[in-house]
Amino acid sequence: MAESLSVRLADPAATAQFGALLARVLAAAAPDSRVLNFEGELGAGKTAMIRGLLAGLGHKGRVPSPTYTLVEPYLVETYRVYHVDLYRLRDPAELDHLGLVDELGTRDELGRGSLLLTEWPDRGAGRLPPPDVACHLVIDGAGRRAILTAPSREGVRLLVKVAEGLPAGF
Ligand SMILES: Nc1ncnc2c1ncn2[C@@H]1O[C@H](COP(=O)(O)OP(=O)(O)O)[C@@H](O)[C@H]1O
Ligand SMILES: [Mg+2]
Repeated sequence: MAESLSVRLADPAATAQFGALLARVLAAAAPDSRVLNFEGELGAGKTAMIRGLLAGLGHKGRVPSPTYTLVEPYLVETYRVYHVDLYRLRDPAELDHLGLVDELGTRDELGRGSLLLTEWPDRGAGRLPPPDVACHLVIDGAGRRAILTAPSREGVRLLVKVAEGLPAGF
């Protein structure tokens, strides 16, 4: 599907603000399970954007990078969130023990679906569900650029809402 969006993020505050916009769109679309991938080199801002997203969903505490734990779970009002970082994954088969794929498509007692946010998804190739939205972050001078694509029909719906919600100046 063709829907895509390219956004210039001038500084870390813009990255956090864009993560919060993703959160608003995801919160308005709940309840259902969704999959977002975050790609780009080390330091591109994947974790920074996910921090903005989690804060936007109402998470108040810390958001440690899951580089060593592989997955950090969060419970927010609208989702069970799994923040995954596969940078250190040696073999995609290690993912089978996490049971993440089984979590998707289920609802908890409050009707919350799962939100899977994965950094370095390529390292889990074949073991992760296909994303609704892929966000590729690239270093662009002193700032960043986020290039978002929507491989699923639901992803296209989400990206249309993100584009509508972009404040002037992005
Ligand atoms: N739009 C931006 N412009 C400049 N620096 C940014 C921007 N967004 C985030 N950063 C900075 O870049 C770094 C990104 O780190 P991090 O989010 O851990 O990267 P990754 O998870 O992709 O390895 C942080 O130091 C952050 O403050
Ligand atoms: Mg990171």
